[in-house]
This record gives sequence, structure tokens and C-alpha cells, in this order.
Amino acid sequence: MKVLKNYKELSSTVADIVEAQITERPLSKLILPTGSTPLGLYEELVSRELDWSHTITFNLDEYLMNIDHPYSYHSYMKKNLFDRTNIYPDNCHFPFRPTLSFEDKMYVNRGIDLCILGIGSNGHIAFNEPGSAFDSRTRVVDLSLQTIQDNSRYFDSVEDVPKQAITMGLRTIMESKKIVLMVNGKHKLTILNVAMNGEITETVPASILQRHNNVEVYYCD
Ligand code: PGA
Repeated sequence: MKVLKNYKELSSTVADIVEAQITERPLSKLILPTGSTPLGLYEELVSRELDWSHTITFNLDEYLMNIDHPYSYHSYMKKNLFDRTNIYPDNCHFPFRPTLSFEDKMYVNRGIDLCILGIGSNGHIAFNEPGSAFDSRTRVVDLSLQTIQDNSRYFDSVEDVPKQAITMGLRTIMESKKIVLMVNGKHKLTILNVAMNGEITETVPASILQRHNNVEVYYCD
């Protein structure tokens, strides 16, 4: 794990990795996260005015809600990254049904080059909540009470948070060639430690990352 000085450094360090990936291999396929952690990363990437014209992206998850809703992850990505770069909207994918054709798209030609992840306070990655099978693939899931509570800060009230989502599976994520986990804040340190150094168990979905041979973890207080 690399400990960075502050959030700005966390964002620019991961931006360096994304920049190197899409510059050295313009046809790269990326998996991208939402949430509060990657906001600085997207801001930094936008400011670098990179060429995204050959890049293909897949988002980790989406609420089961109208995708035009201002709090959908489609809206989040458009607002924070896609509408501010030259990426082609047709190259930006979100999990959809039938889930098998979503996964097929990821594997056309070759698989995912780089996956950027965050971790939830209950150890989830994407919306793979505790108890998710390690061999899971893209599917519809019920959100845990903890996640609904955590994400209520983006909505007008906790009742407005969707109760279900569609998420990439843990197996899908693990098939990425490289994974970068971004963690911002002391409140995530305990779960991060459990995930990275504790037992590898479906109770802590992020613990599966211990089995990947190319994971980098970046943390700041
Ligand atoms: P956060 O969410 O970046 O808003 O803390 C991370 C996650 O739930 O994966």
C-alpha cells in the first residue's frame, strides 16, 4: 500500500496511471468507479486534456433507476468526466440487461486493461455487498442497509436511495489485468486493513483482491 500526503496527491498519482495507460495504449479498456473518492481523479484527468478518442470505458455499477436522474451514475460520469473529454459516448458502457451481453462487450478483442476501484465502509467493491460470491458476474443486487445509509448523503433523504443496483461481479473485476484501489480517509483504514491483510472471505468482498497479482493500493488520510 502506498500512503499519499493528501487527497490531491492521491488524485494526481492515480491520474498518472490512467494517463500512462491511455497514452501508451490508446485502445485501452478501463473500468471506472463513482462515489466521492474518484472526484479529484476525474477533475485532474479533465485538466490534463488527454485524448480519449480511442478509449473504451465500463462503469462498475448503476442504481436501478432512471439513468437520466441527476443522481444516477450515468449522470455522475457525464458531469464529472465524459462530457468534459473527447471520449465517444458510444464507448462508455454501464452494466445493463441482459448482463451477459454487457460482459461480452468487455471481452471483445481482449479484456480490461485497468480497473480503478473504491472500497465501501462494509468492504464492498462496486455493489458487491458482503456475502457476494467470489465467482459472481454482472447481476442485479439488493443494496445493504449500510450502503443505503452511506449513499444517502447524495440524495434528499435516505428513502430516496434506490434499494437495488446492477453491478459487475467479483469475478468480472478480478479478470482485469491491473487493479488500482483508491482509498480516501481514516474512516476506511480499518476495513482496508481487514480486506488486505485479513482472511480472504466473501464476508469481506474486497479481500478477494489479495488473490490478484497486479493490485496497487493508494491511501490518504
Ligand atoms: P466513496 O464510495 O468513494 O463515496 O467513499 C466508495 C464505495 O462505496 O465504493
